[in-house]
Amino acid sequence: MKSESIWEKPISHGEILKNIWKHLDLATLERHHPFHTPVFGTVCDNAPNLRVVVLRRFWRKTPRLAFHTHLGSPKISEIRANPNVSFAFYHPKEKLQLRVKGRATIHTNDDLAEEQWQATELFSRRCYVGEAPTQESRKPTSGLPGNLIDREPTREESETGKANFAVVAANIESIDCLELAVKGHRRSLFIWREDNQIEMKWLTP
Ligand SMILES: Cc1cc2nc3c(=O)[nH]c(=O)nc-3n(C[C@H](O)[C@H](O)[C@H](O)COP(=O)(O)O)c2cc1C
Repeated sequence: MKSESIWEKPISHGEILKNIWKHLDLATLERHHPFHTPVFGTVCDNAPNLRVVVLRRFWRKTPRLAFHTHLGSPKISEIRANPNVSFAFYHPKEKLQLRVKGRATIHTNDDLAEEQWQATELFSRRCYVGEAPTQESRKPTSGLPGNLIDREPTREESETGKANFAVVAANIESIDCLELAVKGHRRSLFIWREDNQIEMKWLTP
């Protein structure tokens, strides 16, 4: 469990938010950071639909999160039908859970999509050269073109994937933050209001 010394002195919402920002920043940079692969939730036919994604960007000012996806993946049509989305993060060493709610936008052929495409390695671009996820197949399939199964595409080959590449970005509307500790858990709620003020509350864990 978490070191108890931090529980012995009073803490402000501001300090908790600073720690959240620190870990979201690190998560975009460090492949092994537990926040690097959050669970991302959409609504599909009135039911929650969850899957793991890779966190690629985090912006603090007007807080926003983003990941990459294939434009043909079902989550795209789910977001178009209902842009209310959520992310769940858990850091086992920090004993820190974040439940983030937001509204998603889909980016293709714009500055953000271009910036992220340029930052995407050839090996990762291979996914976008292949077929969209969640298509039925009569046999086990990687969805990749046969000639790319065991190698990285060339830069030129990778460019054919650009038409399938999308960035999903979500404006953060609230963060429910749970910190576990032997001396009692602590839970705080941050809500971004329309006037850009942050409402901050304590909740029972
Ligand atoms: C560790 C891990 C990372 C993943 N990262 C992504 C990602 O960044 N974007 C993505 O679209 N799918 C990613 N996936 C695959 C999704 O979890 C999911 O299987 C796929 O996108 C199809 O989802 P959908 O049918 O809900 O659109 C990842 C899966 C795992 C296990």
